[in-house]
Amino acid sequence: EPLLTTEVLGHPIIHFREVPSTNIEARKYAREGTAEGTVIVAEHQTAGRGRSGRSWFSSPEWAIQMSLILRPKVSPALAASITQIGAAAVAKALESLGLSPQIKWPNDVLLSEKKVCGILTEMSCELDHINHIVIGIGINVNTPHFPDDVASVATSVRIEKGETWNRKKLMAAVLNSFEPLYKEFLEGKEHPEYLRICRALSNLIGQHITYETTKGRLSAKAIDIDNIGRLIVQHSDGSTETLLSGEVHIGTQ
Ligand code: BTN
Repeated sequence: EPLLTTEVLGHPIIHFREVPSTNIEARKYAREGTAEGTVIVAEHQTAGRGRSGRSWFSSPEWAIQMSLILRPKVSPALAASITQIGAAAVAKALESLGLSPQIKWPNDVLLSEKKVCGILTEMSCELDHINHIVIGIGINVNTPHFPDDVASVATSVRIEKGETWNRKKLMAAVLNSFEPLYKEFLEGKEHPEYLRICRALSNLIGQHITYETTKGRLSAKAIDIDNIGRLIVQHSDGSTETLLSGEVHIGTQ
């Protein structure tokens, strides 16, 4: 039985033992014109990158660290949806292992309220079209434990399931679930499956959250995710606001 059942995604998969960052490697390939669907995967990243300029902890042989090259023929304004599709695809793959993931908008997948997957989407675009998108996905699969300073916020499939899992199988499961979600997005479907998943598994919707703005720290209630992947929040006076991306925290502190 073939692991990968996709038509486009993962054809080819280019495997590295060690790179600074699969996102950077993928960007090089993308700039050289590499086709949509190409996936870069590495055993180890020496300079793995997270959001907001943070670094991403690499656990050689234990984690999945991969980057997908996409060339969606849609407006750059819709690019945030790609992160949501990635989160939905990872969540679906984890559900197929019998786990119960949640999605923390915009780009974390959680198990037992701890982060098991982070996503970093980077785009090269003109005003009216996308040259390429690199979506980098890091999943803690077989990491046995985390350093003390992150143990309260990070987890792995192994820690949650109590057993190790084959990374190739999980990676194929993510790509297999990504492709149909991505197709629907390209077709511009009105009620796409990825949004249903992001809403259904959201740990923010219905919660009071705080977030940083140019006006300082604000708090509001998260009420929905709109059809281009933005978080809609409602203030105490009833007015609503849409957040494009950013750091949000549950709670009013
Ligand atoms: C975050 O949660 O801050 C995003 C983390 C993204 C990590 C992945 S691992 C594969 C790809 N290559 C990188 O350098 N980062 C992403």
